[in-house]
Amino acid sequence: MSRQRVLTGITTTGTPHLGNYVGAIRPSIAASRDPSIESFFFLADYHALIKCQDPELVRRSSREIAATWLALGLDTEQALFYRQSDVPEITELTWVLSCVTAKGLMNRAHAYKAAVQANEEGGEDPDFGVTMGLFGYPVLMAADILMFQAGKIPVGRDQIQHVEMARDIAQRFNHNYQPLFTLPEAVVDDGVAVLQGLDGRKMSKSYNNTIPLFEDAKQLRKSINRIKTNLLEPGQPKDADDSTVFQMWAAFASPQETARMRRDFEDGIAWGEAKKQLFELVDSELAAARDNYTRLMADPGHIEAVLRRGGERAREQAGALMGRVREAVGISPVR
Ligand code: TRP
Repeated sequence: MSRQRVLTGITTTGTPHLGNYVGAIRPSIAASRDPSIESFFFLADYHALIKCQDPELVRRSSREIAATWLALGLDTEQALFYRQSDVPEITELTWVLSCVTAKGLMNRAHAYKAAVQANEEGGEDPDFGVTMGLFGYPVLMAADILMFQAGKIPVGRDQIQHVEMARDIAQRFNHNYQPLFTLPEAVVDDGVAVLQGLDGRKMSKSYNNTIPLFEDAKQLRKSINRIKTNLLEPGQPKDADDSTVFQMWAAFASPQETARMRRDFEDGIAWGEAKKQLFELVDSELAAARDNYTRLMADPGHIEAVLRRGGERAREQAGALMGRVREAVGISPVR
């Protein structure tokens, strides 16, 4: 039986935070241990250029994200772990797919539409600040996915549309030329937690309310102490379901420990005490990986070697498929 192919891209524009860990990294690494799954994880560094034109930031983020996944124990023999830019066939495929992608399909993409709407509301030209990269980004994402014949794409809700577009594009190619591409499907896991940030909104870089995944223990304690709470005193019952501290607790604790903390909230645990316990819990889950991370970050040569090796393995597959794509569209040696 062939293994189910699951593919995930990580845009290299930031430093991983606890929300990324709980919502994406931890479940992805766990899933990659399932022998019936063949996992593909890649650093989407060409995607990063759409949002971020600071080369130092893109470079640093690539290194941090790679170190993070390795530090958390990703098995790079089992899973294929690579950098998008090490597989030039992906950008090559992007062009071929662009030529079968209706412009009207791209007009409907949420990210592009949101940019246009913001311009219109601000009285700007609708295309102000809109690059061809932003406009055509679903085609690059389609190439990421179709290149490896991935069937399942785990995504957040905001990315479902892009996977559906990849499917549309694949269908169009398969119909026009030859049925070379597997049709991908988005999978949204409602079971994984969406973590709240320091201010109680969804933890997100754009809200500036994040807790970096591998900040040192002292800083982690400080961050947890900054989580917003209400003014209830020790001894006063607290509503667990309305608390970021409790929500974060639940994302790290066992069901038994979560039930116990819920009772402690009802019994009026002090915020200081709840935060102290939360720090200890999170720290105990992350401490060993944090040490690995620090070691890896000091050894970029190792990270680079792992990525290169993954890139070579990915290219073997990509090169073979790209050869068939070229042949199918008529880009081939004169004969
Ligand atoms: N666009 C995705 C995001 O912003 C990242 C990404 C790029 C991706 N290529 C992908 C995700 C392919 C899944 C499959 O989150």
